Amino acid sequence: MQLDFSRLTALEAYRWLASTVTPRPIAWVSTRSRDGIDNLAPFSFFQVISDEPPTLMVNVGNRADGSLKDTLCNAQDMGELVIQLVSMAQAEAMNATAANLPHLQSEFAHCGIASQPSQRVAPPRVAGAPIAFECRVAEVQPYPRQAPNCHLIFAEVLLAHVDDTVLDADGRIDPLKLDLVGRLGGTAYTRTCEVFRMQRPG
Ligand SMILES: Cc1cc2nc3c(=O)[nH]c(=O)nc-3n(C[C@H](O)[C@H](O)[C@H](O)COP(=O)(O)O)c2cc1C
Repeated sequence: MQLDFSRLTALEAYRWLASTVTPRPIAWVSTRSRDGIDNLAPFSFFQVISDEPPTLMVNVGNRADGSLKDTLCNAQDMGELVIQLVSMAQAEAMNATAANLPHLQSEFAHCGIASQPSQRVAPPRVAGAPIAFECRVAEVQPYPRQAPNCHLIFAEVLLAHVDDTVLDADGRIDPLKLDLVGRLGGTAYTRTCEVFRMQRPG
């Protein structure tokens, strides 16, 4: 079977890409609006894209009506965000925060998610998240430039919070303890609870 992407609708292209490029880590992004309202939403078009400077990238698509999502507006306005990784224990809470709430309503309050103050940035972090990266917005790129239907947020990591309970005896991440959720296609998810190891060729 072959797929000619020039013949697919945008929705079909999204479905094929989202169900093949898997598993995707999920960025659970907290931002604060100009009015001081704290926003929280998940994004799986997400990756680490540089270690020097330490930079993560989140792709925020436009809403179906072409309007911009709160996460993008807040990140652009305030220049700060916190990116949490999602453990199995918080999967349902993460999913609840994908609800399309009015701009003035906070997902933290609406979904009953506890927050903790951040140290370097104004948006709070999610209490109980195994990993939280406090970030400054390094760059926002509309894509494609001519007729953007998404924006890439390049987020430089300033400070990371790592829950001590996900560390092994040597102080490194134990992937089984981290137990992160990854996005597959549609409503399917996976967990980082199966690990195998390989040595690289010399
Ligand atoms: C697991 C998951 C992954 C998602 N990934 C993305 C994504 O990569 N890009 C995007 O624009 N929306 C994504 N969404 C949808 C947003 O979370 C949703 O549009 C949300 O309402 C945006 O909130 P905001 O307007 O407060 O920023 C995802 C939703 C879920 C549940």
